[in-house]
Amino acid sequence: MKNFSSISDIEDINAWIDEAKSLKSNPYLHKNLGNNRTIGLFFFNSSLRTRLSTQKAALNLGMNTMVMNVSGDAWGIEFEDGTIMNGTTAEHIKEAAAVVSQYCDIIAVRAFPTLTDKVKDESEYVLKAFMKYATVPVVNMESATGHPLQGFTDAMTISENSQSKKPKVVLSWAPHVKSLPHAVANSFVQAMQKMDVEFIMTHPKGYELNPQIVGDTPVVYNQEEAFEKADFVYVKNWSSYKDYGKVLNTDPKWMITQNKLGNAKFMHCLPVRRNLIVEDAVLDSENSLVIQQANNRTFAAQLVLKKLLENA
Ligand code: CP
Repeated sequence: MKNFSSISDIEDINAWIDEAKSLKSNPYLHKNLGNNRTIGLFFFNSSLRTRLSTQKAALNLGMNTMVMNVSGDAWGIEFEDGTIMNGTTAEHIKEAAAVVSQYCDIIAVRAFPTLTDKVKDESEYVLKAFMKYATVPVVNMESATGHPLQGFTDAMTISENSQSKKPKVVLSWAPHVKSLPHAVANSFVQAMQKMDVEFIMTHPKGYELNPQIVGDTPVVYNQEEAFEKADFVYVKNWSSYKDYGKVLNTDPKWMITQNKLGNAKFMHCLPVRRNLIVEDAVLDSENSLVIQQANNRTFAAQLVLKKLLENA
């Protein structure tokens, strides 16, 4: 593995989960692997969990960390080739990625979609430009279309909490006031497709995800029917993919309540808006796995960094 850009970079998810669990039980076992190595974390967008858990993962491996909020702190980066740079951008990604590669042994990038230009977003031009022009491995910390560190974390968390051989896992859309990306939902779908689970999705009509990602995964448009006998309910809002980036539905009937959830475990990547996406009673119950998910972000990232360091 040269870079970690998508769930498809995980060849054997069960082996990865076992290794991440083992890192969780002994986080400092490889504390010298990253000695004298540096990871640079570059954020074009906000973060709490990804920013801290990826740093923590690197520190557990003995790495040095550098963090930069690109939007605002760095020079404006140009991604188009052949542009006359007489506008707001001051530095081309060709130089920026090559320069950063002199300071860092691994580069991690977060760059969200525009949600207005589908073609541009699906080209993953920020992540792919870093991968093209950097001379060191690149890690996706959430791109326009995927959040593989989160998807792998979620697979690990389901494995830790599974009571049956083949649990039923439901991905449910829930309402939100803003237009949100598809990345978390996409990577969760891709992770579940690699797991031995009964996996279905539920969302209002008009919120179908990219059909190339959904594939044969069943979609049940009735949320209560979808939740029947569910072991895990993973909740996320996303904007319309077909009517790209639009908010088509804010119906509070799609909010997750304790009554709907029954005995199923509740999962969400966080941050979550209380009493809009999910009611307090669910988040405050023993069936909520959200804090465990956030904790597992460290060990998912640690495994990815370990593999990249070992491959260097
Ligand atoms: N789940 C997640 O990626 O959280 P942050 O946006 O806070 O990093």
